[in-house]
Amino acid sequence: MSKILIKFIQDKQKWEAMGKIGQSLMSLANQDGEIFGYCGGQLACTTCRVYIAKKYQPLLPKPTEIEEDVLCELPNNINYPEKDYVKRMSCQLKCTSQLNGLTVVIPPPIL
Ligand code: FES
Repeated sequence: MSKILIKFIQDKQKWEAMGKIGQSLMSLANQDGEIFGYCGGQLACTTCRVYIAKKYQPLLPKPTEIEEDVLCELPNNINYPEKDYVKRMSCQLKCTSQLNGLTVVIPPPIL
């Protein structure tokens, strides 16, 4: 399997994209013109944050210490409670065969 299917949800919009193994979820989301990830994956902006259903957490790599620090700075999002969702920086997550069919929620920007 060289490509996997990822489903994205942003506001009321839903779309699917085929990601290459090793491609970041941020890059895949931006393929269809969704603009986020301003720092280009340097863990400096938090605009690439996403929410993923907790049941997928075992399939995700553990966040690095730096990503953990960035995630801790983010306010809780009442629409995606921590008991149901895990928040991650999509620039740090790569497409892997285990993630085929994953749904990724892109929240509204923090104002
Ligand atoms: S792109 Fe800036 S933190 Fe991921």
